Amino acid sequence: MSEPLLSVKNLKQYFKVSGNYTVKAVDDVSFDIYPGETYGLVGESGSGKSTIGRSVIRLYDPTAGEIRFDGMDLSGKMSKAQHRELTVKMQMIFQDPMASLNPRKNIGDIIGEGLDIHHLYSSREERQKKISDILKKVGLAPEHHSRFPHQFSGGQRQRVGIARALITGPKLIIADECISALDVSIQAQVVNLMKDIQDEAGMAYLFIAHDLSMVKYISDRIGVLHLGHLLETGTTEEIFENPIHPYTRSLLSAIPSPNPVVEKQKVAESYDYRTSGIDYNEGVMHHIDGQHYVSCTDGELAAWRKK
Ligand SMILES: Nc1ncnc2c1ncn2[C@@H]1O[C@H](COP(=O)(O)OP(=O)(O)OP(=O)(O)O)[C@@H](O)[C@H]1O
Ligand SMILES: [Mg+2]
Repeated sequence: MSEPLLSVKNLKQYFKVSGNYTVKAVDDVSFDIYPGETYGLVGESGSGKSTIGRSVIRLYDPTAGEIRFDGMDLSGKMSKAQHRELTVKMQMIFQDPMASLNPRKNIGDIIGEGLDIHHLYSSREERQKKISDILKKVGLAPEHHSRFPHQFSGGQRQRVGIARALITGPKLIIADECISALDVSIQAQVVNLMKDIQDEAGMAYLFIAHDLSMVKYISDRIGVLHLGHLLETGTTEEIFENPIHPYTRSLLSAIPSPNPVVEKQKVAESYDYRTSGIDYNEGVMHHIDGQHYVSCTDGELAAWRKK
């Protein structure tokens, strides 16, 4: 296996809300993302998905743990130069493109901002050409560059959000619920676009979603998050064909089946942590080479991989 592009080890992100109350939004989470792959992160609302994304891109200072990305150490204090490098190599796509695109700027300037900040062109013509090329790549017309965000549909606006993330040529894109606000038919279009772009440009995605249905189509591997803990990891096939954790099984049973007969006979699996008898501090369930394994230390996990 190649070196991971992103390696997160024992990440903790706590928020002190008041004198004696701390929210443990992310608790001891470890995962790797390899170059060019898509890692799907799923879990219900409040499980800590966005917090992980924001810690990785360093919108927060992590409480504890290690984050390594493309040879950079993102765990501790970062220099200005490191921050600059990070904003070129790692980008984010947000859930609500209307809220994340400046309504007073035209599309060309929104997309071109990354080029402007990092001086990634030598002439106005080159800047314009890069913007036109990206617009075409995401299925918009170069003429759209002078329009404003409100003059687009929701799906088109998300294409602008993708174009903006792509323009610096990132190695990792964090997509935080980037299709949740779109119509189901448009969701598929946007996911397919993201896949096509990945085939061409080879970047990795951290694809965050609250349910497993779309994640299945885009992810190579999946991590299941609940109450700030990563409960189970595996390839997409392993998670779907052979889920171990009862929480993963409850998420899977919530995916509607297109067959009405199957759907009627289905028994939804419910799951309640408080009555489950499970202790999240004990370890993460890993699927490796078709076998299950509860990890307690990284050394044990590495030994298992070698088998
Ligand atoms: N800045 C903050 N200060 C205090 N608590 C926070 C902060 N950010 C997040 N939290 C809390 O951390 C937990 C995880 O939040 P997070 O936004 O990461 O969840 P999520 O999985 O992205 O949920 P959703 O699916 O609703 O987007 C929640 O309990 C939330 O209230
Ligand atoms: Mg979120």
